[in-house]
Amino acid sequence: MKVIHKINELKEIIKEQKGKSIGLVPTMGALHEGHGSLIKKSVEQNDFTIVSVFVNPVQFGINEDFDKYPRTLEKDAKLAEELGADVIFNPSVDEMYTDTQELTLVCPPYSAINKLCGKSRPGHFDGVATVVSKLFNITQCTRAYFGQKDAQQLFIIKKMVKDLNFNVEIVPCPIVREKDGLALSSRNTYLKDDARADALKLSKALNYAKELRKKGVNDKQMLCDSALKILEGTNVDYIEIVNPETFEDWQETDKRALMLIAAKIPPTDTRLIDNMEI
Ligand code: PAF
Repeated sequence: MKVIHKINELKEIIKEQKGKSIGLVPTMGALHEGHGSLIKKSVEQNDFTIVSVFVNPVQFGINEDFDKYPRTLEKDAKLAEELGADVIFNPSVDEMYTDTQELTLVCPPYSAINKLCGKSRPGHFDGVATVVSKLFNITQCTRAYFGQKDAQQLFIIKKMVKDLNFNVEIVPCPIVREKDGLALSSRNTYLKDDARADALKLSKALNYAKELRKKGVNDKQMLCDSALKILEGTNVDYIEIVNPETFEDWQETDKRALMLIAAKIPPTDTRLIDNMEI
């Protein structure tokens, strides 16, 4: 497996794959089993798999964790190679952007970003859509793999592919959880001792809401309030229920319901997200 840092070098390798299917697994590195499941699926479904490892500055706000985001390229390369990836694409910021201040951005519609993570992280999804578009263009991938943990991101990327006619099949991959339910995230490495117990409250709250709905509770406020009680001790950013197909606010007449939570975990204020169909 090769680790490539230059766009032109990657393009040369891609030229050699003429007629073959290319799978792209876009990541920011600090790979865990969740990413592993995406890589495995891409290796299964494609002739050639590229894992991009790029901490994208354009999707981080000024006070967010761009500088401290974990960077573990050697470990990432080992895992990707074990799982059968062909290339890691790890460009520098300068290789990807000549000037981040004067950049042509891909901006998802307001209706898709004025809620949930888009509301608390202004500009985040412009940064995501822009870098993902660049990666699609650079890699000319047939399929691209995204985790369902970032449900709003997945929704926005699917819409972008449709709206901008990208010739890429988006493959959603289920959330991978630890045995106790904690959704895997690169940011879990920030959690120390007691913080992990608080982090676990996200999946507990989602599971509880799911149980309530199974028992016939269909009142949105009641579902959210019950989940909120379990989240005590964390700083909840949002707890919402949407229709997973439209990402519009969930109506009690909608069959499917997706509950999404974002919360900051003290004492480091690690921001975690999780979601579940309830
Ligand atoms: O989900 C992520 O890790 C990032 O948002 C992505 C899709 C790699 C774009 O930087």
